[in-house]
Amino acid sequence: MNILVTGGTGFIGSHTVVKLIEAGHRPIILDNFSNSAESVLEGLSDILGQSVTFFRGDCLDTDLLRRLFRQEHIEGVIHFAASKAVGESIQKPLLYYRNNLSVLTGLLETMLAEGVQNLVFSSSCTVYGEPEALPVTEQTPVQAATSPYGNTKQIGEEIIRDTVLAPSPLRAISLRYFNPIGAHPSGRIGELPLGIPANLVPYLTQAAAGLRAALTVYGNDYDTPDGTCIRDFIHVMDLAAAHVKAVELLSQRTEQSFYDVFNVGTGRGVSVQQLIDTFEAVNGVKVPHQIGPRREGDIVAIYADVQKVNQEMGWQAEKSLSESLKDAWNWQQQLLARN
Ligand code: WQD
Repeated sequence: MNILVTGGTGFIGSHTVVKLIEAGHRPIILDNFSNSAESVLEGLSDILGQSVTFFRGDCLDTDLLRRLFRQEHIEGVIHFAASKAVGESIQKPLLYYRNNLSVLTGLLETMLAEGVQNLVFSSSCTVYGEPEALPVTEQTPVQAATSPYGNTKQIGEEIIRDTVLAPSPLRAISLRYFNPIGAHPSGRIGELPLGIPANLVPYLTQAAAGLRAALTVYGNDYDTPDGTCIRDFIHVMDLAAAHVKAVELLSQRTEQSFYDVFNVGTGRGVSVQQLIDTFEAVNGVKVPHQIGPRREGDIVAIYADVQKVNQEMGWQAEKSLSESLKDAWNWQQQLLARN
């Protein structure tokens, strides 16, 4: 299939491009490099032994979308392009509503006008808030968002659902990601945080590499076995593979209109302290760290029930936490060596 990958040079997008090509599809990347870099295209070429079709542009530009749909004979869209920093979204809500929601409505209108039926949307486990029971299933109630970023993911899901219900000739899947970590095993592509990383693993690898003084663990007095928060950390290559399954599932549906949501995680809860210990053990390197106060807004514990995605999409996470952390460290070291 010819698949438009918006945000295809970003962290999850670039790994999905690799998986799409490996599965025999033809990804066409649209990205404005607002939170990525041209070097990702070189990394992709090295891994794939071929260059990937790329257009530099903004997803708000519906004329450009229309042109790409026609010229590249697009059959489906995997829509990654969005802003994703929770803290920044509180400071700049309108930027988030524009980048994440105005873009989505323009994309949907253009898809409908041009007869492009299949859409995979990047959602997030953030829609569950602080869940009352674990693991969370797709039926776990969605809770009021605590940031504009989280709100854009909830509203984004609703916009897509309402469009399908209209009904419109749209088939869509929202994937609710848990915590993506790791990198391509080659170390040629990975996560490229701008400035000081807000997420755990990029901060940890920079601290281990001596680029940051020490990782602060945000609280060890939670009601969990070791007192630190629990997350479902999923290797980005596994998450990427779920997108290929999702777009293939959509193309096989015979209905004109279809919508569903899936959790994409490993189903395993791992604490922040366990992750640090595993990183040190598998990589033989110490992570300078200290315990600090809790971070405002953090969820105590969340991990996925993955039965639905296993059964209905035939997908499951294959890589272990150790592999994820080896690949994250390999990526960090290669990045340092290159710069
Ligand atoms: C994980 C755990 C921290 C940094 C957020 C968004 C989510 C998704 C991913 C988008 C927490 C702890 C972290 C550090 C720490 N969004 N931590 N020291 O908060 O689960 O999810 O990012 O792309 O929507 O909410 O991820 O990696 O920030 O934190 O102790 O320096 O690591 O307290 O328990 P989170 P995270």
